[in-house]
Amino acid sequence: MSTTAVRGAADSSAAAPAGSLPFHSAATKRIESFGVVGAGLMASQLVLLVAEKLRVPVVISDISANRVADAIKGIRERLSRQEARGRLASGEAAEISALIRGSTNPAEFSACDAAIEAVFEDLRVKRTVFRQLEESVAPDALLLTNTSSLSVESMARGLAHPERVLGFHFFNPVAVLPLLELVRTPFASDDAVLAASVLAARLGKTAVQVADTPGFVVNRILTRIFSEILAEIDRGSDPDAVDRALEPWGLPMTPLNLIGYIGPSVQRHICDTLHRAYPNRFRRSSSLDAVVKAGLPGFFDENGEVRPVARVLPSEPHGTNLEHVRRRVREGLAEEVQLMLDEGVVATSADIDRCMTLGANFPPGGLSHLT
Ligand SMILES: NC(=O)c1ccc[n+]([C@@H]2O[C@H](COP(=O)([O-])OP(=O)(O)OC[C@H]3O[C@@H](n4cnc5c(N)ncnc54)[C@H](O)[C@@H]3O)[C@@H](O)[C@H]2O)c1
Repeated sequence: MSTTAVRGAADSSAAAPAGSLPFHSAATKRIESFGVVGAGLMASQLVLLVAEKLRVPVVISDISANRVADAIKGIRERLSRQEARGRLASGEAAEISALIRGSTNPAEFSACDAAIEAVFEDLRVKRTVFRQLEESVAPDALLLTNTSSLSVESMARGLAHPERVLGFHFFNPVAVLPLLELVRTPFASDDAVLAASVLAARLGKTAVQVADTPGFVVNRILTRIFSEILAEIDRGSDPDAVDRALEPWGLPMTPLNLIGYIGPSVQRHICDTLHRAYPNRFRRSSSLDAVVKAGLPGFFDENGEVRPVARVLPSEPHGTNLEHVRRRVREGLAEEVQLMLDEGVVATSADIDRCMTLGANFPPGGLSHLT
């Protein structure tokens, strides 16, 4: 399905000159100016990617002028480092920096042919951002969201031109992980999907088209793993032992380390979204709640020890059977993959494998090779 279509669209763009993107199949509108709303962790990486790959002016905005200034400073430093390491030619860092402009005024986006929002993961905030964007951009400008788990359809609904709103979900770190989940809503036009597919290819990303369902692919699979692991910890199993149970699978990080990397409160937010959608399979976790409530950066302390953190857990840990944990996660994943295929989140289990490999650094073969 989709994946093939996306790749076909991307391939057909190969002849287009750098910095110019066909937008409408029937017209010759090009992406000559790009906007990024939000100046946080993801937005700054997106600005860097777009400026570097498309070489078009990029405006970045935030409600906080300080965050915009910090983001631009950080981007310039990263560009200078890349030039110092020889990854950019001499003078290129300054050339790319000159394309980036900061603002706190949504009206500054009027010239943008495409804009992506990477503000807080809150539907109301994102809807407001899109309403503001729609007041300033042209009716055919592409409007993209980097949401990890929220409904893209809900963001598009009520806009004058919902057909150009798509999910464009990058993965952190953006420069490293090649996956882009391209989320299509029932409103989306084929032209917008084509333009977004071409854009993804120009940004050097592999787009996999996914349905607009909570958590899309990667976060849904990761959260199902977390859900099973956390349920074991909630019932008193030793967190350290449970966390090591999946080591034979060769995943890039243990589940609890990954929760620390994502951030416990961010992950709890994603867990909540999935719990609301599928309460029987994505349960709330008292352990994760305890870690978030205590303001801890994760389940481990700075020495990589889980035990000091275990003091905030609801019960005294006891031993656990690692094969039981692996079986629990394996069965959970098998169930989730089948349900995702039944729901049409993607066409084939190979799409899920591709997403997990390109978006979460799972070993080649994705889930299929976990035994
Ligand atoms: N952090 C990740 O690893 C990751 C990965 C993929 C996708 N995402 C998604 O990307 C989005 C941003 O995540 P993040 O981690 O970069 O967040 P962040 O907290 O680092 O940054 C969010 C920024 O949005 C700004 N903001 C809030 N409301 C705004 C508004 N109305 N207008 C303009 N700016 C506003 C905030 O001031 C802040 O600077 C979220 O939707 C998140 O789910 C995050």
